[in-house]
Amino acid sequence: MHDAERHFPGGPSGTPDAPFDDPDYLFAHSIRSADVVEQWLRSGDVVPEEEFVQQVRRLVLRHEIGGGVEADVLQAADSLSFLETLSWLTAEWVTSGRYPRARAVEKLRWSVERIRLPEAVAAALPLYDRAVLELDQFSTASSASRRRLAGDSRSLLGHPAQPSGSGGTR
Ligand SMILES: [Fe+2]
Repeated sequence: MHDAERHFPGGPSGTPDAPFDDPDYLFAHSIRSADVVEQWLRSGDVVPEEEFVQQVRRLVLRHEIGGGVEADVLQAADSLSFLETLSWLTAEWVTSGRYPRARAVEKLRWSVERIRLPEAVAAALPLYDRAVLELDQFSTASSASRRRLAGDSRSLLGHPAQPSGSGGTR
């Protein structure tokens, strides 16, 4: 939900040479996502209390930068999620020529360095090590498999993955 704006065309895009912590991109992305989420919360048959809507909005606005206990947890979860379930994307970037290896490592390192919670940093370090190793051991077959798993909500919730070919959740 924190990245909701990416599901709608016309959003901000980073430039290839900009750092991954580029505030111009991160702020535009976070504000647009918060707008999408707030609009969605207000569009249902039952609209949550105003304080809840505002708190969700504040958290989505801070999901990239943290700040406050809840935002720090959300930001750490975002990094851990990327490192655990989407790190194959960085290997795919290298293989496809989108980014050189050094940029992929920079993305992975930033995912760890932005975490504020020490327990989450400890959890992120082995995931970072694994992801860097994957940059050199990437295969298209494993990428396809992990892409499928990343879109399988059953698997992400700890249930057995959907059989291959049964269609995704998107
Ligand atoms: Fe984001």
